[in-house]
Amino acid sequence: QYIGIDLGTSSVKILLMKADGTILSSISKDYPVSYPKTGWSEQNPEDWLRQTLAGLKELLASEEADQNQIKGIGIGGQMHGLVALDEKDQVIRPAILWNDGRTEEETEYLNTVIGTDKLSDFTANIAFAGFTAPKILWMQKNEPEKFQAIQKIMLPKDYLVYKLTGAFTTDVSDASGMLLLDVKNRAWSKEMIEICGIQEQMLPEVKESYDVSGFLKPEFAGELGLTESVAVVAGAGDNAAAAIGTGTVEDGSCNVSIGTSGTVFIASDSFRVGENNAIHSFGHANGKYHLMGCMLSAASCLKWWLEDILKTTDYQGEQQEIKGLGDNPLYFLPYLMGERSPHNDPNVRGAFFGLGMDTTRAQMVEAVFEGVSFALKDSLEIAESLGIEIKKTKLCGGGAKSPVWQQILANILNIEVELLVTEEGPALGGAILAAVACGEYASVEDAARAIVKVKETIKPQPELTEAYARKYQVFRELYPAIKGVL
Ligand code: XUL
Repeated sequence: QYIGIDLGTSSVKILLMKADGTILSSISKDYPVSYPKTGWSEQNPEDWLRQTLAGLKELLASEEADQNQIKGIGIGGQMHGLVALDEKDQVIRPAILWNDGRTEEETEYLNTVIGTDKLSDFTANIAFAGFTAPKILWMQKNEPEKFQAIQKIMLPKDYLVYKLTGAFTTDVSDASGMLLLDVKNRAWSKEMIEICGIQEQMLPEVKESYDVSGFLKPEFAGELGLTESVAVVAGAGDNAAAAIGTGTVEDGSCNVSIGTSGTVFIASDSFRVGENNAIHSFGHANGKYHLMGCMLSAASCLKWWLEDILKTTDYQGEQQEIKGLGDNPLYFLPYLMGERSPHNDPNVRGAFFGLGMDTTRAQMVEAVFEGVSFALKDSLEIAESLGIEIKKTKLCGGGAKSPVWQQILANILNIEVELLVTEEGPALGGAILAAVACGEYASVEDAARAIVKVKETIKPQPELTEAYARKYQVFRELYPAIKGVL
């Protein structure tokens, strides 16, 4: 049996998988995000560890679990977050998360003073506000004493691996999002280390996602009733882990994730960099590469609108009147935390546009579905402009659960959307990586092919795609119109 963990932004999801891919049980544990200032987003790494251990205990107490049979654990984690430890291995400050927009100045410095050409040469990417390197520069300037105390820098899931095993490692897919990795060569960039004023020994050892990082420490093995020979793999960034969990491993295959963030992920056998670095060029968890566009608020827009504003948790009821015909006169710009791809604008904010006296509540919910889907289309269009032909995509994440949203997405992206037997993309991907590391499969590709099953294909409706294409043209005009106004 294998355990897959998805260290997300709102919760940690943990599942138990048999070697043949059968999911035996799963569990999820929440933790808070704090927004200490507008555009800031932080979490306490100790919460991740505490809730992961609580979740593991509950999962292992389930009937299906056989503690003696557990061989490996794999973690997919929220990317880009800065976790800094001091000489006593204590967390120096709360982790600064992937959707934190405080580093506007540092991002600007990197992109203009160092220059995008150089950054792209060193790392295959340019600076985006959520990436790790600008956060290190932010700490250097704004919290110099804390910066001086840094001994180790790691990403969220690497913190869990470090605590659970004592191994100070990361994996290529997640390390790619730090703007410190020479992605092409899968090694730290000496130039970027110097630019950030840190030293290489502060950074974890870079492994492939399916490599074993270490084994459970005796204290945790004892607490969980597991043997000390349980291997913990290096794991992956949550998007690369999700891609494994949705079988997105073949060259040119695509996965869309609608979670707290929204991503368009395209697997690539070869290293490639998009024009103007508008989408990210990262390593994949199968030892190869991928391109990715990331929007900062996706399913979280729906959660915000329904739970925070309308004060309801009746997700199904709110969707009942939505017809999804492309005739909704309302628009929603999903920039609640600023936006990453393709605008790289931490200061832009969301909007409803086109409100009238006849606007209905259902239209506003529908506009949220459409707005998130249009923003995903922005990234898909960039990928297509690179000559990549995308005819279909897998879909995962919380937003994948709504049938109305699935159909709207298929119509807006105008490609087939494949739904999978399990939507637990990153957690399943983590478990698959662990199974590969323990020798159950010859390769990540073999494992994904054997384990991941498509349940249903949602096809675009030709009679509606035109109407959505027209709406998309209007949507594209809205960002330039509001840019810089606030
Ligand atoms: C990807 C990104 C997000 C987080 C979400 O670049 O920032 O998808 O990984 O957890």
